[in-house]
Amino acid sequence: MDETTSFDIRLVPTHVAIIMDGNGRWAEERNKPRLAGHKAGVDSVRAVVETARDIGVRHLTLYAFSTENWQRPPTEVTGLMKLLRTYLESELRTMLKNDIRLFCLGQRERLPVDVRRVLGTVMEETADCSGMTLNLALSYGGRNEMMRAVRQLAKQCVDGELDYRSLSEDMLTNLLDTAGQPDPDLLIRTGGEHRLSNFLLWQASYAELYFTETKWPDFRKDQLLEAVAAYGRKQRRFGKTGAQLNTG
Ligand code: IPE
Ligand code: IPE
Ligand code: MG
Repeated sequence: MDETTSFDIRLVPTHVAIIMDGNGRWAEERNKPRLAGHKAGVDSVRAVVETARDIGVRHLTLYAFSTENWQRPPTEVTGLMKLLRTYLESELRTMLKNDIRLFCLGQRERLPVDVRRVLGTVMEETADCSGMTLNLALSYGGRNEMMRAVRQLAKQCVDGELDYRSLSEDMLTNLLDTAGQPDPDLLIRTGGEHRLSNFLLWQASYAELYFTETKWPDFRKDQLLEAVAAYGRKQRRFGKTGAQLNTG
Protein backbone atom coordinates (compact mmCIF):
# COMPACT_ATOMS: atom_id res chain seq x y z
CA MET A 1 0.00 0.00 0.00
CA ASP A 2 1.21 3.49 -0.81
CA GLU A 3 2.19 5.57 2.22
CA THR A 4 -0.06 8.42 1.08
CA THR A 5 -3.13 6.28 1.84
CA SER A 6 -2.28 6.26 5.54
CA PHE A 7 -2.91 10.02 5.82
CA ASP A 8 -5.55 11.10 8.33
CA ILE A 9 -7.96 12.91 6.05
CA ARG A 10 -9.11 15.22 8.90
CA LEU A 11 -5.61 16.68 9.03
CA VAL A 12 -5.35 17.26 5.30
CA PRO A 13 -5.89 20.91 4.32
CA THR A 14 -8.92 21.46 2.10
CA HIS A 15 -7.13 24.14 0.10
CA VAL A 16 -3.38 24.23 -0.48
CA ALA A 17 -1.83 27.23 -2.25
CA ILE A 18 1.76 27.24 -3.44
CA ILE A 19 4.19 29.96 -4.49
CA MET A 20 6.40 27.89 -6.76
CA ASP A 21 9.68 29.78 -6.43
CA GLY A 22 13.33 28.98 -7.09
CA ASN A 23 13.37 27.62 -10.64
CA GLY A 24 15.89 30.17 -11.88
CA ARG A 25 18.35 29.64 -9.01
CA TRP A 26 17.98 25.88 -9.32
CA ALA A 27 19.10 26.15 -12.95
CA GLU A 28 21.87 28.68 -12.25
CA GLU A 29 23.37 26.36 -9.62
CA ARG A 30 23.67 23.76 -12.37
CA ASN A 31 25.05 26.21 -14.94
CA LYS A 32 21.93 25.80 -16.99
CA PRO A 33 19.69 28.47 -18.53
CA ARG A 34 16.82 29.63 -16.32
CA LEU A 35 14.34 27.97 -18.63
CA ALA A 36 15.80 24.56 -17.72
CA GLY A 37 14.68 25.31 -14.17
CA HIS A 38 11.18 26.12 -15.32
CA LYS A 39 11.12 22.87 -17.34
CA ALA A 40 12.14 20.83 -14.30
CA GLY A 41 9.50 22.77 -12.36
CA VAL A 42 6.80 21.39 -14.64
CA ASP A 43 7.65 17.88 -13.40
CA SER A 44 7.20 19.15 -9.84
CA VAL A 45 3.78 20.49 -10.84
CA ARG A 46 2.82 17.04 -12.11
CA ALA A 47 4.06 15.31 -8.96
CA VAL A 48 2.42 17.79 -6.59
CA VAL A 49 -0.93 17.75 -8.42
CA GLU A 50 -0.98 13.95 -8.31
CA THR A 51 -0.02 13.77 -4.64
CA ALA A 52 -2.49 16.46 -3.60
CA ARG A 53 -5.27 14.58 -5.38
CA ASP A 54 -4.20 11.29 -3.77
CA ILE A 55 -4.27 12.58 -0.21
CA GLY A 56 -7.63 14.31 -0.56
CA VAL A 57 -6.79 17.99 -1.04
CA ARG A 58 -9.91 19.50 -2.65
CA HIS A 59 -8.45 22.77 -3.97
CA LEU A 60 -4.88 23.30 -5.11
CA THR A 61 -3.77 26.75 -6.23
CA LEU A 62 -0.43 27.15 -7.99
CA TYR A 63 1.14 30.56 -8.52
CA ALA A 64 2.60 30.13 -11.98
CA PHE A 65 2.97 33.71 -13.26
CA SER A 66 2.44 37.00 -11.45
CA THR A 67 1.37 40.38 -12.78
CA GLU A 68 4.93 41.47 -11.94
CA ASN A 69 6.52 38.61 -13.91
CA TRP A 70 5.64 40.40 -17.18
CA GLN A 71 8.69 42.56 -16.44
CA ARG A 72 11.08 39.63 -16.98
CA PRO A 73 13.15 39.43 -20.18
CA PRO A 74 10.87 38.70 -23.15
CA THR A 75 12.68 35.43 -23.91
CA GLU A 76 11.90 34.11 -20.42
CA VAL A 77 8.26 35.22 -20.64
CA THR A 78 7.89 33.57 -24.05
CA GLY A 79 9.54 30.39 -22.78
CA LEU A 80 7.24 30.24 -19.77
CA MET A 81 4.15 30.73 -21.95
CA LYS A 82 5.29 27.95 -24.27
CA LEU A 83 5.85 25.61 -21.32
CA LEU A 84 2.42 26.49 -20.00
CA ARG A 85 0.81 25.64 -23.30
CA THR A 86 2.56 22.30 -23.67
CA TYR A 87 1.79 21.44 -20.04
CA LEU A 88 -1.92 22.12 -20.56
CA GLU A 89 -1.99 20.17 -23.83
CA SER A 90 -0.27 17.18 -22.28
CA GLU A 91 -2.27 17.13 -19.03
CA LEU A 92 -5.87 17.16 -20.23
CA ARG A 93 -6.14 13.36 -20.33
CA THR A 94 -4.61 12.95 -16.88
CA MET A 95 -6.89 15.60 -15.44
CA LEU A 96 -9.96 13.89 -16.82
CA LYS A 97 -8.75 10.49 -15.58
CA ASN A 98 -8.11 11.90 -12.11
CA ASP A 99 -11.35 13.91 -12.02
CA ILE A 100 -9.51 17.24 -11.73
CA ARG A 101 -11.19 20.50 -12.73
CA LEU A 102 -8.88 23.16 -14.10
CA PHE A 103 -9.57 26.78 -13.23
CA CYS A 104 -7.65 29.97 -13.85
CA LEU A 105 -7.10 32.94 -11.55
CA GLY A 106 -5.80 36.25 -12.89
CA GLN A 107 -5.87 38.35 -16.03
CA ARG A 108 -6.57 35.71 -18.67
CA GLU A 109 -6.96 38.38 -21.33
CA ARG A 110 -3.28 39.29 -21.04
CA LEU A 111 -2.12 35.77 -21.95
CA PRO A 112 -1.07 34.96 -25.54
CA VAL A 113 -3.97 33.82 -27.68
CA ASP A 114 -2.70 30.23 -28.08
CA VAL A 115 -2.41 29.81 -24.31
CA ARG A 116 -5.88 31.29 -23.84
CA ARG A 117 -7.28 28.87 -26.35
CA VAL A 118 -5.89 25.71 -24.76
CA LEU A 119 -6.70 27.02 -21.30
CA GLY A 120 -10.30 27.53 -22.41
CA THR A 121 -10.47 24.04 -23.85
CA VAL A 122 -9.08 22.33 -20.74
CA MET A 123 -11.33 24.38 -18.45
CA GLU A 124 -14.39 23.47 -20.51
CA GLU A 125 -13.51 19.79 -20.81
CA THR A 126 -12.87 19.44 -17.08
CA ALA A 127 -15.73 21.68 -15.92
CA ASP A 128 -17.70 18.76 -14.46
CA CYS A 129 -14.77 17.11 -12.69
CA SER A 130 -15.21 17.20 -8.94
CA GLY A 131 -12.32 15.28 -7.37
CA MET A 132 -10.14 18.36 -6.99
CA THR A 133 -10.00 21.90 -8.38
CA LEU A 134 -6.63 22.94 -9.72
CA ASN A 135 -6.36 26.73 -9.87
CA LEU A 136 -3.53 28.09 -11.97
CA ALA A 137 -2.74 31.68 -11.04
CA LEU A 138 -1.64 33.22 -14.34
CA SER A 139 -0.90 36.89 -14.75
CA TYR A 140 -2.25 36.98 -11.24
CA GLY A 141 -1.80 39.66 -8.61
CA GLY A 142 -3.77 39.91 -5.39
CA ARG A 143 -4.04 43.69 -5.64
CA ASN A 144 -5.21 43.53 -9.24
CA GLU A 145 -7.81 40.90 -8.32
CA MET A 146 -9.11 43.06 -5.47
CA MET A 147 -9.19 46.20 -7.62
CA ARG A 148 -11.24 44.42 -10.28
CA ALA A 149 -13.73 43.37 -7.59
CA VAL A 150 -13.80 46.83 -5.99
CA ARG A 151 -14.50 48.46 -9.35
CA GLN A 152 -17.50 46.17 -9.85
CA LEU A 153 -18.86 47.06 -6.42
CA ALA A 154 -18.26 50.76 -7.03
CA LYS A 155 -20.16 50.55 -10.31
CA GLN A 156 -23.12 48.85 -8.63
CA CYS A 157 -23.17 51.64 -6.04
CA VAL A 158 -22.99 54.38 -8.67
CA ASP A 159 -25.74 52.68 -10.70
CA GLY A 160 -27.93 52.66 -7.62
CA GLU A 161 -28.06 48.83 -7.44
CA LEU A 162 -26.22 48.76 -4.14
CA ASP A 163 -26.10 50.95 -1.05
CA TYR A 164 -22.47 51.52 -0.01
CA ARG A 165 -23.53 51.08 3.63
CA SER A 166 -24.48 47.48 2.93
CA LEU A 167 -21.07 46.51 1.47
CA SER A 168 -19.76 43.39 3.17
CA GLU A 169 -16.70 41.17 3.20
CA ASP A 170 -18.75 38.41 1.56
CA MET A 171 -19.63 40.67 -1.36
CA LEU A 172 -15.97 41.30 -2.09
CA THR A 173 -15.07 37.62 -1.55
CA ASN A 174 -17.73 36.62 -4.07
CA LEU A 175 -16.28 38.89 -6.76
CA LEU A 176 -12.73 37.57 -6.49
CA ASP A 177 -11.40 35.03 -8.99
CA THR A 178 -11.67 32.40 -6.24
CA ALA A 179 -15.41 33.02 -5.72
CA GLY A 180 -17.12 29.89 -4.47
CA GLN A 181 -13.90 28.29 -3.26
CA PRO A 182 -12.75 28.14 0.35
CA ASP A 183 -9.80 30.21 1.55
CA PRO A 184 -6.42 28.44 1.50
CA ASP A 185 -5.65 26.55 4.70
CA LEU A 186 -1.99 26.00 3.92
CA LEU A 187 0.19 28.37 1.92
CA ILE A 188 3.57 27.00 0.89
CA ARG A 189 6.46 29.01 -0.54
CA THR A 190 9.47 27.17 -1.91
CA GLY A 191 12.84 28.73 -2.76
CA GLY A 192 13.75 30.27 0.58
CA GLU A 193 12.06 33.69 0.43
CA HIS A 194 9.62 34.70 3.15
CA ARG A 195 7.20 36.93 1.29
CA LEU A 196 3.80 36.79 -0.36
CA SER A 197 4.72 38.50 -3.65
CA ASN A 198 1.15 39.68 -4.22
CA PHE A 199 -0.39 36.19 -3.88
CA LEU A 200 -3.94 35.68 -2.52
CA LEU A 201 -3.68 38.74 -0.28
CA TRP A 202 -7.33 38.67 0.78
CA GLN A 203 -7.85 34.91 0.85
CA ALA A 204 -4.71 34.02 2.83
CA SER A 205 -5.67 36.03 5.91
CA TYR A 206 -5.78 32.89 8.09
CA ALA A 207 -3.68 30.47 6.07
CA GLU A 208 -0.93 28.55 7.83
CA LEU A 209 2.33 29.62 6.21
CA TYR A 210 5.02 27.09 5.36
CA PHE A 211 8.35 28.25 4.00
CA THR A 212 11.02 25.91 2.72
CA GLU A 213 14.52 26.40 1.33
CA THR A 214 13.82 23.64 -1.19
CA LYS A 215 13.66 25.10 -4.67
CA TRP A 216 10.56 24.32 -6.68
CA PRO A 217 12.18 21.78 -9.09
CA ASP A 218 13.17 19.72 -6.02
CA PHE A 219 9.74 19.95 -4.40
CA ARG A 220 7.95 16.71 -5.16
CA LYS A 221 5.73 14.17 -3.41
CA ASP A 222 7.77 13.75 -0.19
CA GLN A 223 8.19 17.49 0.27
CA LEU A 224 4.45 18.09 -0.12
CA LEU A 225 3.69 15.31 2.37
CA GLU A 226 6.12 16.91 4.81
CA ALA A 227 4.41 20.31 4.47
CA VAL A 228 0.99 18.71 4.97
CA ALA A 229 2.25 16.83 8.02
CA ALA A 230 3.56 20.10 9.51
CA TYR A 231 0.16 21.64 8.86
CA GLY A 232 -1.50 18.75 10.67
CA ARG A 233 0.49 19.55 13.81
CA LYS A 234 -0.71 23.18 13.99
CA GLN A 235 -3.47 24.39 16.24
CA ARG A 236 -5.53 26.86 14.25
CA ARG A 237 -7.02 29.25 16.76
CA PHE A 238 -8.68 31.87 14.55
CA GLY A 239 -8.33 34.48 17.27
CA LYS A 240 -9.53 32.29 20.12
CA THR A 241 -7.43 30.94 22.99
CA GLY A 242 -6.05 27.43 23.01
CA ALA A 243 -8.18 26.63 26.06
CA GLN A 244 -11.36 27.66 24.25
CA LEU A 245 -10.57 25.26 21.45
CA ASN A 246 -9.76 22.37 23.78
CA THR A 247 -13.10 22.66 25.55
CA GLY A 248 -14.87 22.75 22.19
C1 IPE B 1 9.48 30.78 -9.99
O1 IPE B 1 10.85 30.65 -10.12
C2 IPE B 1 8.77 30.69 -11.31
C3 IPE B 1 8.18 31.94 -11.77
C4 IPE B 1 8.18 33.08 -11.11
C5 IPE B 1 7.57 31.93 -13.06
P1 IPE B 1 11.77 31.90 -10.42
O2 IPE B 1 11.92 32.02 -11.89
O3 IPE B 1 11.27 33.11 -9.73
O4 IPE B 1 13.13 31.41 -9.78
P2 IPE B 1 14.18 32.28 -8.98
O5 IPE B 1 13.43 32.94 -7.86
O6 IPE B 1 14.74 33.28 -9.93
O7 IPE B 1 15.16 31.29 -8.50
C1 IPE C 1 6.49 34.76 -7.20
O1 IPE C 1 7.80 34.51 -7.52
C2 IPE C 1 5.62 34.51 -8.41
C3 IPE C 1 5.50 33.12 -8.81
C4 IPE C 1 5.97 32.09 -8.18
C5 IPE C 1 4.74 32.91 -10.01
P1 IPE C 1 8.80 35.68 -7.92
O2 IPE C 1 10.13 35.07 -8.09
O3 IPE C 1 8.26 36.44 -9.06
O4 IPE C 1 8.75 36.60 -6.61
P2 IPE C 1 9.65 37.82 -6.17
O5 IPE C 1 9.58 38.84 -7.25
O6 IPE C 1 11.04 37.30 -5.98
O7 IPE C 1 9.07 38.26 -4.89
MG1 MG D 1 11.66 33.91 -7.87
